[in-house]
Amino acid sequence: MTTILGIETSCDETSAAVLTADAADGTGATVRSLVILSQDAHAVFGGVVPEIAARAHLTAIVPVVERALAEAGVAREELDAIAVTAEPGLVGALLVGVGWASAFGAALGRPVVPVHHMEGHLFAVSLEEPDAVPPFTALLVSGGHTLLIDVAAWGTYRLLGSTRDDAAGEAFDKVGKLLGLPYPGGRHVERLAAGGDPSRARFTRPMLRRDQAPGDGDYYDVSFSGLKTAVRLALGSEPPPVAADIARGFQDALIDTLVEKTARAVRAYDRPRVVLGGGVACNRALAEAMRQRVAPLGPVVHAPSPRLATDNAAMIARAGFFRLAHGEIATAGLTAHATAPMPGLTAA
Ligand code: KG4
Ligand code: ZN
Repeated sequence: MTTILGIETSCDETSAAVLTADAADGTGATVRSLVILSQDAHAVFGGVVPEIAARAHLTAIVPVVERALAEAGVAREELDAIAVTAEPGLVGALLVGVGWASAFGAALGRPVVPVHHMEGHLFAVSLEEPDAVPPFTALLVSGGHTLLIDVAAWGTYRLLGSTRDDAAGEAFDKVGKLLGLPYPGGRHVERLAAGGDPSRARFTRPMLRRDQAPGDGDYYDVSFSGLKTAVRLALGSEPPPVAADIARGFQDALIDTLVEKTARAVRAYDRPRVVLGGGVACNRALAEAMRQRVAPLGPVVHAPSPRLATDNAAMIARAGFFRLAHGEIATAGLTAHATAPMPGLTAA
């Protein structure tokens, strides 16, 4: 049995998790504990303040790791490796996790495995739904990324599309701000939209046209900044619109676009599953619309529970198993990167 401690500090969650697996590559891994400490301090600023995030990770990391070990009933000597998010993210925030994991690994004489945050999101659902394994079509929708990926096997990723401007979660957060909702706005927009009338605020589906064909640059790509502008203009119109209708219109347009682009990938690559990941995958309307749209095409849709959809260390530990099994161990001087392509990612 292999036991891995995962550490995640890429944004505003300090998280640690202990996973065990009989298979060295992590297949069938069990989450023995998962501790997530969300930083509330950013809400008042309406966005994550990088310096505050880094400092908060520094005070939280030791108690969060100790709690994860205690809840798992695992002594530090029983750990076989430490997996840590090394990229992408806020570099100061990442460095706290990377620096701490390196020191802890050195003190214990255990390897440190650097993990790409978005690869972690790819593995998240498989921790609760054993069938959510490759081959599949993946839609990763978070605060910083929107990626449509064909996953032939773990570690073999073909990038089909991404956002040209705002990420899906970023669009939710900006529209939340326009609607006067607390930060981060995603779940508040979803709640408000549930009571809205979709016929009263219909927005153009961005970058979605019937005449697009495979091979066109915009066939799989998305763009949400124009949608955000359309929302701002609609809010300023007379008579003043109902906020719930605007939230609904925005959410419908964004979801329609994501679902349609995913359906295109499903048709092109004929994968039996669609896997969702990232914070926006918490959105029930997205998962429901995805199921309705792709069911007639064949695939089953797997969406993570909110705890595993948003940033967490369990998904980092799970990706860590895979990377460790391939001998990907950090050498001295491991550092963090604000941006970096996912390992194994090729362009379509
Ligand atoms: O993956 P994540 O926790 O952090 C990043 O790596 O960015 O994603 C956070 C994003 C935020 O933009 C948040 O507003 C969004 O996920 N989010 C949602 C919902 N819950 C969280 N967006 C739409 N609907 C939700 N229910
Ligand atoms: Zn994330």
